[in-house]
Amino acid sequence: MLELNKVYQGDCLKLIEEIDSESVDLIVCDGPYGVTTNEWDKVIDIQTYNLNLIKIFSRVLKPGGALYLFGKDDCIDFIDYRPFLRLNRKIIWYQPSRLAQGRLNYTNNYDLIAYFSKGKAKTFNLDDIRVPQLVELEHRLRCEKVPSVINGQYGKTKFNDEGKNPGDVWGDIKQLTYKSKELISRDLLNTIQKPEKLIERIVKASSNPGDIVLDPFSGVGTTFAVCKKLNRNFIGFEINPDYIQITNERIRKIELEREYSLF
Ligand SMILES: C[S@@+](CC[C@H](N)C(=O)[O-])C[C@H]1O[C@@H](n2cnc3c(N)ncnc32)[C@H](O)[C@@H]1O
Repeated sequence: MLELNKVYQGDCLKLIEEIDSESVDLIVCDGPYGVTTNEWDKVIDIQTYNLNLIKIFSRVLKPGGALYLFGKDDCIDFIDYRPFLRLNRKIIWYQPSRLAQGRLNYTNNYDLIAYFSKGKAKTFNLDDIRVPQLVELEHRLRCEKVPSVINGQYGKTKFNDEGKNPGDVWGDIKQLTYKSKELISRDLLNTIQKPEKLIERIVKASSNPGDIVLDPFSGVGTTFAVCKKLNRNFIGFEINPDYIQITNERIRKIELEREYSLF
């Protein structure tokens, strides 16, 4: 088994062979989308590529472990992933501010995040990812007086002061812009660096402190940064050594901030 809390340089398809079977709690997979001109994104058939990933990931996931696979709207179309993992939800990461405007078709305004688990998901920490209710108080009270809620049949769906389930359309988490404080460099905008909030929701929902999170396409280490802050263990793979250096500096900064906050 590989040492934890490290990013390994190389091709994840090879490196993952070093990971023990059924040892990982959560995989965050923000790999090729097959749409950009980046060398690493030149995938001829993204669906076949993703099916192979799903197969490989199912070996290392613990029973009940989760995979979040990022891509465009068609990234898992027409492939049969069912022998390997269970698809729990297709999450839409909605980005209304996309600049490109289609002329011949509707503009694509979202990324897909396919949420899978190996059998029934073992972890779903809803209370850690609740979002504010967007209903007015009057409407809220009216809903609570519905007989099925009062008599307990749907008691569990009653409004919760701590907030509601974020649902499967995530429009509340914005893409990074060149003004975002967390953006490491402008070259990383759009194709590389993801917002910490996005990864944080995934890590909080589908892992617990001490769990092992794998990011096979770890980029500049957003998943690692989130894991560090949330006390999860991490294993990362990345082909680009410059990105690994950025990741290591990012993690060191978090560690230093933590050390200083103890004084
Ligand atoms: C979309 S980026 C991931 C960004 C990451 N989520 C972040 O926020 O920093 C995909 C990354 O996968 C890396 N990559 C592509 N193919 C790879 C492979 N076969 N093995 C390891 N890394 C790979 C690329 O260099 C790129 O940094």
